[in-house]
Amino acid sequence: MAHGSGAKGVFNNAAQAWNHSFFWESMAPKAVKPSGLLASAISSEFGSLETLGQRFAAEGTGHFGSGWVWLIAKGGKLEVLSTHDAGSPILEEGVTPLLACDVWEHAYYIDYRQDRAGWLTSWWHRLANWHFAAMQFDAAIGQGKPWRYPPSQTAR
Ligand SMILES: [Fe+2]
Repeated sequence: MAHGSGAKGVFNNAAQAWNHSFFWESMAPKAVKPSGLLASAISSEFGSLETLGQRFAAEGTGHFGSGWVWLIAKGGKLEVLSTHDAGSPILEEGVTPLLACDVWEHAYYIDYRQDRAGWLTSWWHRLANWHFAAMQFDAAIGQGKPWRYPPSQTAR
């Protein structure tokens, strides 16, 4: 794997292809709400989707420089984290990403200028693909297979 071999250029390009493909899957054309086991996990771990969204936006807003904000499952639990540049949470064993949002400036600057918080809040409420996230969460707890690169048909 390029990440472990020190081939930074290869890693950056491969990981950004993966991250952006995952980002496209993380967005739905129409707003949807979490369902199933994921909805229960959000409720029990964060209290509400709104609270989790605030946590997600705060993580991305506080992230210095370019990168990604992630909702992940690790050991059956939900976590919000950010990675720098082309970084990916899947470099860590046992992590399944559920959603990713691009916080490189190119993702939001035309529409939102410097308002990264506005981008993240809008993204959370209007674009987050909870069908996809629920499928990923099911896979994280052993019920199905997670999304793989290259992408194929997924739930909308
Ligand atoms: Fe991007």
